[in-house]
Amino acid sequence: MLTPNAATSAPTGTCGVCGVCVFFTGLSGSGKTTLATALDAYIRVDASRATTLLDGDVIRTHLSSELGFSREHRDLNIQRIGFVASEVVKHGGFVIVSAIAPFENARQAARQLVEATGRFYLIHLATPLAVCEARDVKGLYAKARAGLLKGFTGVSDPYEMPADAEVCIDTSAMRVEAGIAHIISRLKADGVL
Ligand code: ADX
Repeated sequence: MLTPNAATSAPTGTCGVCGVCVFFTGLSGSGKTTLATALDAYIRVDASRATTLLDGDVIRTHLSSELGFSREHRDLNIQRIGFVASEVVKHGGFVIVSAIAPFENARQAARQLVEATGRFYLIHLATPLAVCEARDVKGLYAKARAGLLKGFTGVSDPYEMPADAEVCIDTSAMRVEAGIAHIISRLKADGVL
């Protein structure tokens, strides 16, 4: 019979070096990349921990280049990200994910995979659609509204609001520094930093 391996089971109390996954989810333009990059810098410089940053756009270039934006492909994309994150966490690493991840089942699957060996923090960037659309950094909302881009999240494709996020931040109401401080204080309170 297999018994749980103490070296790889999820720690329950304070842990100085346990694996951690901070997973940013939210609409395009909600601030995921900005917060993920700022958190990454804090963890590397101030907390002196190596990090792995899995950014949605970079993942879609290097790991999911053949995938589109159907539900099936989005779920497969998040499944791959969850797998890579779980491998990092398994070895005590700190991984920061930034992806729209619009579907609850895919987010839950990623959480379960990571929590088998470490800590998982879902950070929901609940920036209102109107704000994301006004930012429209990549011009994709305009294309979606014009009907040039089909199945765009928030416009013509769903975003299922997470009910289980550890932290929820509206970047239109909170500065980047304050958002990062909020996340860090949660990580510190849990003893993972
Ligand atoms: S996810 O749905 O699979 O989690 P992911 O985070 O990897 O999405 O990629 C989202 C990025 O792809 C957006 O920031 C945007 O630049 C681009 N993109 C292109 N087409 C779409 C679309 N139809 N819906 C959402 N994002 C799209």
